[in-house]
Amino acid sequence: MKENKIPINQIILDDNINFMKSLPDECIDLIFADPPYNMNLQKELLRPNGLKFEGVNDEWDKFNSLEHYKEESLKWIKECLRILKKNGSFWIIGSYQNIHIIGNILQNLNAWIIGEIIWEKTNPVPNFGGTRFVNDHETLLWVVKNKNSSFTFNYKTMKFLNKGKQMKSIWNFAICSGKERLKDENGKKIHSTQKPLQLLERIILASSKYNDLVFDPFIGTATTAHAAKKWGRNYLGVELFERYYNASIERLKNVEENMEDDNVKFASFDKKQEKVTFKDLIDANLINVEENIYIQNLKLKFNIDGTITYLNEKYSPNALCKKIFNKPTNAWEVIKINNQKISEIRKKYRDKN
Ligand SMILES: C[S@@+](CC[C@H](N)C(=O)[O-])C[C@H]1O[C@@H](n2cnc3c(N)ncnc32)[C@H](O)[C@@H]1O
Repeated sequence: MKENKIPINQIILDDNINFMKSLPDECIDLIFADPPYNMNLQKELLRPNGLKFEGVNDEWDKFNSLEHYKEESLKWIKECLRILKKNGSFWIIGSYQNIHIIGNILQNLNAWIIGEIIWEKTNPVPNFGGTRFVNDHETLLWVVKNKNSSFTFNYKTMKFLNKGKQMKSIWNFAICSGKERLKDENGKKIHSTQKPLQLLERIILASSKYNDLVFDPFIGTATTAHAAKKWGRNYLGVELFERYYNASIERLKNVEENMEDDNVKFASFDKKQEKVTFKDLIDANLINVEENIYIQNLKLKFNIDGTITYLNEKYSPNALCKKIFNKPTNAWEVIKINNQKISEIRKKYRDKN
C-alpha cells in the first residue's frame, strides 16, 4: 500500500497515469473519466455551407490502432480502479466508438457496472452527409469496484430534483454552448469536447457526499472540478496540455460554492435518521413518566427505563403493542400522550438534536 500525500482542490499538469501512480490505493470517492474517443476522423467533414466542421480531431485523440487504444485504456482504467475507494463510484463517458471497449475492459477487471445513462443531446450536431442517423447521444457507465461495494446513491435528492418522480436513465442536456462554453481571445472554443456543467452536477449530486474527493483523470477544461467546487466536494484533476490546464485554472477562480440549496448539497433527504429510543425521550424530559399514556383506550404509564408495565409485566413498547393488537405494530404511531402520537414527540427530539 502506497502512503503518499493526496493533493486536493488542484489541477495537475501531467500525464494521468504518471500522476495516478503517485496516489495511494483507495483514496478517491468518485472518479469521472471523459477519455479520448478514438474517433480518428480520417477526412475533413464539411458543413453544408462548405465550412470545415470542428469535430474531435485533436492531438489527444490520435492512436496508432485499435489495439493501441485498448492498451492505453487498460492502463488508465486499472489505475482508476486501484485508487477508487472500496465503496466509491466510477463514471466513464464515451460514444459508440469507445464505450464498448471500455465496458469490456471494466468487466474483464471484475469491476461491477451498476448502471448506464444515456445523455441525449437536445441540440445535436446534424449528420451533415445524410449518411447515417444523427448521433445525438453519449453513453455513461456507472461502475463500482466489485459486487460488494456499498456505493452512495442519493436517491431522494435525485427524486427531489426530478420534481418528485424517480430519476430515469435518459438525461436530456444541451451540448455546452453560449456563455458556458470557454472561448479564447479570438472567440474560438478552447476545447472541442467541453461537457455541460449540468451533466457533471447530476453525477456528483447523485453519487457523492459533501466533502468527498472527486477525481477526473482527463479534466480538459475542468467541468468536473467546477461542479465539485460548486457543490462542496473536493476536486482533483489531471490534464496533459497546458492550454486546457490554463483554461481550467482560470475557470475555477470564478466558481463559488452554492450556499442556497443546502438540502441538495448535503443530500439531506437521503440522510438516515438517527435511531431514537423511548428512553431518550424520557431522559430529555419530553415524556414525563407520571403522565398517562394511551394505547387505544388502555391507560398506562412509561417506566423510567422506557418500558411499560401491563398486568404486572414489563414490556418494550413495541412488544406490548404487538400483544395488544395481536400483530407487529409500530408503537411510535399508536401510543398517544395528550392526544399526540409519540412519533411527533420523537420529531421534536430530532429537530432539537
Ligand atoms: C474528452 S476530453 C475531456 C473534456 C472535459 N470533460 C471537459 O469538460 O472539458 C479529454 C481530455 O483528456 C486529456 N488527456 C488525454 N490524454 C491524457 C493523459 N494521458 N493524461 C492527462 N490528460 C489527458 C486531453 O488533453 C483532453 O483535454
